[in-house]
Amino acid sequence: MSDLLTGKVAIVTGAARGLGREYALGLAAQGAKVVVADILDGAETVAMINKIHPDAAIAVDLDVTKSASTEAMAKQTVDKFGRLDILVNNAALFGKSAVSKGVEMKPFSAIAEEDWDRMMNINVKGVWNCTKAAYPYMKEQGYGKVINIASTSVSMGVPYMLDYITSKGAVAAMSRSLARELGPDGIRVNALAPGFTLSQASKDLLEDSGNDTLAPTVVAMTCLGEAQTPPTLVGTVVYLSSELSDFVTGQILNVDGGANFTSN
Ligand SMILES: NC(=O)c1ccc[n+]([C@@H]2O[C@H](COP(=O)([O-])OP(=O)(O)OC[C@H]3O[C@@H](n4cnc5c(N)ncnc54)[C@H](O)[C@@H]3O)[C@@H](O)[C@H]2O)c1
Repeated sequence: MSDLLTGKVAIVTGAARGLGREYALGLAAQGAKVVVADILDGAETVAMINKIHPDAAIAVDLDVTKSASTEAMAKQTVDKFGRLDILVNNAALFGKSAVSKGVEMKPFSAIAEEDWDRMMNINVKGVWNCTKAAYPYMKEQGYGKVINIASTSVSMGVPYMLDYITSKGAVAAMSRSLARELGPDGIRVNALAPGFTLSQASKDLLEDSGNDTLAPTVVAMTCLGEAQTPPTLVGTVVYLSSELSDFVTGQILNVDGGANFTSN
């Protein structure tokens, strides 16, 4: 373990599985206490963390679409660990998972109205709700780090996922406006934009869509010629969470092996 985040307390939303779990493990490895907040059971992630770093993590039930649930998450965090320094807004509908019924690649005109609304409710309103819930604690401390998970797909104009891409464009926009609004309170707000990363959700999405050209196309677009895996994103989350990035705010950092040089 290193100690870039010793004494810090982090919430990672959507950390029961996938990329959120990687972020939670990565933050704990730097000494942070971590709240694994998810609509799914976070016990497995918590057990993985606590096995290596005893008592470093707890699980909290969260539905990002409900403001009362996000407020309870923030309160439980401070009740347990005494403060709240870092919020990673990672929870979203993406790919295929126990909660993402109906999410698949399809033409824009084939997206059902209720699926569009559900996507915006979770991916956009959820980020607003969680940030609102964390804000009073960070404001009182005069310090905080909000890291919103966007996507390089926004600047690349990826087709057949219009609801998802639109939601991530909103996340990027919110990150910049929130950076301006919360900067005077000492709260830094940045976005991490991952490239197409081989999480379980994206592998399942590829399998379901029967699209066997997307993954090699993405690899060919990178400068490095390599497929992106979950651990490639952890260093940037740690950096944006730590004091190393204290003069960085309102930024959208692409982490995609150089597939994309412009930010959203
Ligand atoms: N995998 C990729 O290629 C990729 C690329 C760019 C961005 N992203 C983003 O990274 C994040 C994680 O993606 P992933 O691949 O690990 O997918 P995932 O589906 O495994 O993770 C999403 C998590 O969010 C949780 N969640 C969903 N709805 C929720 C709700 N209402 N309240 C609380 N939690 C909820 C899910 O239970 C799940 O644990 C998402 O924001 C996704 O958009 C992923």
